[in-house]
Amino acid sequence: MMSEGLAPLTVAVHSVRRSARDELAADVRAGLMRPPRWLPPRWFYDEEGSRLFDLITELPEYYQTRTETAILRDHAASIAALAAPEALIELGAGSCSKTRVLIDACRARRTLRIFTPFDVSDNVVWRTSHELVDEYPGLTVYGMVGDFTSHLGFIPRLGRRLVVFLGSTIGNLEGDERNAFLHEVRSLLDRGDTFLCGFDLVKDHAELVSAYDDSAGVTAAFNRNVLRVVNRELGADFDVDAFAHVALYDPTHERIEMHLRAERPQAVHIPGAEMRVDLAGGETVRTEISAKFTRVSVEGMLAEASMQLEEWFTDPAERFALALASPVTRRRPTRR
Ligand code: SAH
Ligand code: AVI
Repeated sequence: MMSEGLAPLTVAVHSVRRSARDELAADVRAGLMRPPRWLPPRWFYDEEGSRLFDLITELPEYYQTRTETAILRDHAASIAALAAPEALIELGAGSCSKTRVLIDACRARRTLRIFTPFDVSDNVVWRTSHELVDEYPGLTVYGMVGDFTSHLGFIPRLGRRLVVFLGSTIGNLEGDERNAFLHEVRSLLDRGDTFLCGFDLVKDHAELVSAYDDSAGVTAAFNRNVLRVVNRELGADFDVDAFAHVALYDPTHERIEMHLRAERPQAVHIPGAEMRVDLAGGETVRTEISAKFTRVSVEGMLAEASMQLEEWFTDPAERFALALASPVTRRRPTRR
């Protein structure tokens, strides 16, 4: 499919999810049935969760967003020159606040024709797609609602691609999921296409923990919101305020973990998942991991997925990095 087939002002929202409620019920059954209990982080992002995440990005302790924005501002022109995309695809796009820097740089080079924000949150995709169409006359916006761990194959090829995955959202995937995800990204790339990925870097543990346990309590509200989602969608009766927000750094796995700790025993009914959960006082539910990276670990992950690092852009304090990668194409053995 070529973007010529789409009107210059297109907002197409292509939903590839089955019922969100069914998916949530399956995840709740898989994660909450027995200890150690956990929930996948994608369920944070209903309308309220997306709003809270946007507030997190402005917190003094959450250095990630402003650092990545500054790196993008410094290097967007070089990225646009190297990648020269016709189609910019953003996975886990959210409100696309940083992407505008990249869109501006690509538009300045007159290569970009189409932008695809891809996110699991349908209201975010709708809102962002409409905003971008208004802001960028002539840009085709093809929004997609889907899960980046299973629906990347649905993304249509609409010209030379730059796939971007910002915010270090890759760190929210478990090791196996991350490798599978990178293989899927690789399969989206033909020769000449590129992948730009944001990575939060390993650093002082106290600085990391405070980024996930801010003094205003916004991250705590974001964390608890996942229980409100389960209450609303599956008719559950979690006493949300009886859970404490916990953020800790695991140096062995180089990752932050967020948990919710039941402050007292709770018998929780979850009719939409046809289950009852008996939580002991002090028991925790892990709600997110946020892995931290080094240049060496990033190069290793990319190589494992048949990609290679082309450029490594970082800030002066090396808190955060943007990696620009290209697909490695294996040479066919030459016949004698
Ligand atoms: N890229 C933005 C937003 C990061 S927040 C930034 O850098 O600031 C993470 C985003 O990923 C949210 O918008 C959330 O809805 C989306 N997301 C989380 N899990 C997802 C999944 N499995 N598939 C697709 N999108 C997902
Ligand atoms: C989206 N993601 C990269 C954020 C992170 O830093 O892991 C989500 C977040 N969780 C708590 N604060 C922000």
